[in-house]
Amino acid sequence: MTHNIAVIGGDGIGPDVTAEAIKVIRAAGVDIATTEFDLGGDRYLRDGEILSDETLDALRPFDSILLGAVGHPDVKPGVIERGLLLKMRFELDLYINQRPFLGTAPGGTVQHDFIVIRENTEGPYVGEGGALRVGTPNEVATQGSVNTRFGVERCIRYAFELAVNRERKHVTLVHKTNVLSFAGDLWQRTFDEVAAEYPQVGTAYNHVDAACIYFVQDPHRYDVIVTDNLFGDILTDLGGAVSGGIGLASSANLNPARTGPSMFEPVHGSAPDIAGQNKANPTAAILSAALMLDFLDEGVAADRIRAACAEPVTGSTTDVGAAIAARVGS
Ligand code: IPM
Ligand code: MN
Repeated sequence: MTHNIAVIGGDGIGPDVTAEAIKVIRAAGVDIATTEFDLGGDRYLRDGEILSDETLDALRPFDSILLGAVGHPDVKPGVIERGLLLKMRFELDLYINQRPFLGTAPGGTVQHDFIVIRENTEGPYVGEGGALRVGTPNEVATQGSVNTRFGVERCIRYAFELAVNRERKHVTLVHKTNVLSFAGDLWQRTFDEVAAEYPQVGTAYNHVDAACIYFVQDPHRYDVIVTDNLFGDILTDLGGAVSGGIGLASSANLNPARTGPSMFEPVHGSAPDIAGQNKANPTAAILSAALMLDFLDEGVAADRIRAACAEPVTGSTTDVGAAIAARVGS
């Protein structure tokens, strides 16, 4: 069976790491047909297209989307991020951002294995708010956080469904309920109600600031973490840093209802300073491709790719890709 994959290399190192991920998928014997979409900062600067509704509709029939990275030094921050990446997350209803962390924290000796489930369609990311009297001494800016019972509950349910099938069977809610009392209360009550349906799953709650300490000093306490969009964004960079580096951090933007394609991308950004130099580590993109294969029911190939990435490879982007492809193919 051929999987139809839309490929958005994007900006900076994105196209290079994505090309290696595709090589590795093919080396694993998975049959894919790829269609490249020229989107990102360069395209925007050329003709103004970020992600039109027509292009979005062209993406919908694909089995999944592989994304490199977005962010261009000549484009104002937020334009491509909101117009391309966040537009896909919202419009394709990619309500779960799943980010696995397997690694050993700096100074540690024992491997940890936890997964962050980040709500991906609400919170401060929706862009609620605005600015008045911009550039004057009386400027006002507000930026709200949108949390719906529906959105919070489907995210928490996903986390419990994931945990119930894992060995440790444990979910930690991370929030800031002591300060964000409205949103925090909704998250905490919803968490408690869903947890009651899963008596076999253990639970905990951490404030996000405390979670930052535990990520560094005691990551073994975690199995599945569920959290708000912005907390999840910040925590998963830290997760990368304590699990072998952001060069290994993978992510899946999932539409678990499968009403359209899901999207897979490394956690890292476009790193324009090293773009085109064949220096970027493609492992995060390759591991993101493995998450894509999990979702496409190609779990055997996905496991082979993860096994091939377990032993670190160093070298240029293409060297690392070739070495992992060779391991996967042998
Ligand atoms: C991520 C990125 C994005 C986010 C940016 C590029 C908008 O940091 O996927 O973690 O904040 O979600
Ligand atoms: Mn981020």
